[in-house]
Amino acid sequence: MTRHLLRDDDLTPAEQAEILDLAIELKKDRWANKALAGPQTVAVIFDKSSTRTRVSFAVGIADLGGSPLIISTANSQLGGKETPSDTARVLERQVAAIVWRTYAQAGLEEMAAGTRVPVVNALSDDFHPCQLLADLLTIREHKGDLKGLTLTFFGDGQSNMAHSYALAGVTAGMHVRIASPADYAPRADVVEAADRRAAETGGSITLLTDPVEAAAGADVVVTDTWVSMGKEEEKLARIRDLGGYKVTPETMTLADSEAIFIHCLPADRGYEVDSEVIDGPQSVVWDEAENRLHAQKALLVWLLGKKDA
Ligand code: CP
Ligand code: NVA
Repeated sequence: MTRHLLRDDDLTPAEQAEILDLAIELKKDRWANKALAGPQTVAVIFDKSSTRTRVSFAVGIADLGGSPLIISTANSQLGGKETPSDTARVLERQVAAIVWRTYAQAGLEEMAAGTRVPVVNALSDDFHPCQLLADLLTIREHKGDLKGLTLTFFGDGQSNMAHSYALAGVTAGMHVRIASPADYAPRADVVEAADRRAAETGGSITLLTDPVEAAAGADVVVTDTWVSMGKEEEKLARIRDLGGYKVTPETMTLADSEAIFIHCLPADRGYEVDSEVIDGPQSVVWDEAENRLHAQKALLVWLLGKKDA
């Protein structure tokens, strides 16, 4: 049956672990796997800006022997003139998979419902599951077994990244803390989904408003921009509301002494994180950015293996 990755809990705990294991294998020899030999084409569509996602999918598809077709929505019929499902029906006759960075999650769901090729969420307003595969790979490389680790996200708890940490983190059996003002707490349905998954894995999801309590003993310290794409008009209010959740050297002192710092990038130094942290010895953000490549290759190989004949 064709599988898609639209949100982090589309993968079971066993499937997530399988993809991370495969990513570790693929990272050892970048050109060994030619799952897209042909070359088969993968459509990679962007409604929003991107550096890492664009480069890592293009390079990863080429590494796998395939051909990336990067489409900017501004120059296509999608995003106004044509529906996601009609677009999917056109693309599926020609491409092996569809990767899409967009705004509404509903568009991705419509795209996936309308096609027999895998659809991958390359970031929506709600989730960023490809980033989470890279982040979990990075945490595994630096901290070992994911199960039982405590990860604290600071900032906008309603952001795609906070939601993805909640779902993917508990899927890996981690204890996820989201530290945000009450008005920026994660969406209730996402927290409920994380709770259900945590009951299977032994992980947990905890919402906190006190950043000091949230930092205490954390193994992984995470933040993200306070102004996600699409929220630019709220910039000043967000700087005011989220200022108390900045990751500072003091935050890292409260965390475990061997804690690592991750950030999906791009970063606004001086806002959500101080330079001393992101450019300091506990930061692994460049490994994390590289791991987008390896994790997404593993995801594509895994999805192609599940595709309808
Ligand atoms: N982290 C991430 O998705 O970066 P880009 O917006 O540059 O793709
Ligand atoms: N939360 C950020 C992530 C960017 C990779 C955004 O959506 O803009």
